[in-house]
Amino acid sequence: MRRKLAAGNWKMNGLGANLAELEKLSGLHGAPDCEILICPPATLISTARVQAGEQIAIGGQDCHENTSGAHTGDISAEMLKDAGASHVILGHSERREDHDESDSDVRQKACAAIEAGLKVVICVGESLEERETNNTLDIIGGQLAGSIPDQVTGENLVVAYEPIWAIGTGKVPTLDQIGEVHDFIRTRLERRFGEGVGRSARILYGGSVKPGNASEIFAVSNVDGALVGGASLKADDFSAIITALE
Ligand code: G3P
Repeated sequence: MRRKLAAGNWKMNGLGANLAELEKLSGLHGAPDCEILICPPATLISTARVQAGEQIAIGGQDCHENTSGAHTGDISAEMLKDAGASHVILGHSERREDHDESDSDVRQKACAAIEAGLKVVICVGESLEERETNNTLDIIGGQLAGSIPDQVTGENLVVAYEPIWAIGTGKVPTLDQIGEVHDFIRTRLERRFGEGVGRSARILYGGSVKPGNASEIFAVSNVDGALVGGASLKADDFSAIITALE
């Protein structure tokens, strides 16, 4: 059975003082029934690794596709690993938009991350216009094919379905819409990688997940957890989401 995963993406939020929330979360979930992952800004990874305790994994929010070299301001997968990360989020829609990241960029970053021994959380999702013109599954299918490298395993691949229009907006797709996309992703993974990998990889939902809607979202088929933005910043909110998943 797939282990459920509650992942928090702090995005560009968090100073040293905010790690108190992580310590609090760690105190609340000493023996969790699901996997917990927090992805703070890169500046906090090393300290977060120490303060999070053994039950919470720490991840990065992006990495460069090269291992080292003249890339001012960038961070390699190996550096994330060295700082204490075990996972990295790749292809988040904010990076696809702000940094023009293509599926092929995401795929190369994923190759580098896997090579460095990180688990990858690869994000896919449609815009509102793409949904309203009935192109959601075509878009998701293209992103999956283009962004996920061939060498993933059921252990190191997590796919996060994040409809762009649901991120930070308080809008959430219907449960049927979430189920349709998650079933589609599962089928695509099984078709491409076989049943072993396809059935073991986790598929997370992301986009305005809150304590109040988490339980119903987690009851949808092929939803193995959530990638949470805003509600992961406060220990009490994220803790309630974790409890809904357990
Ligand atoms: O990666 C998480 C994300 O984009 C969802 O953000 O704030 O809507 O939970 P939020």
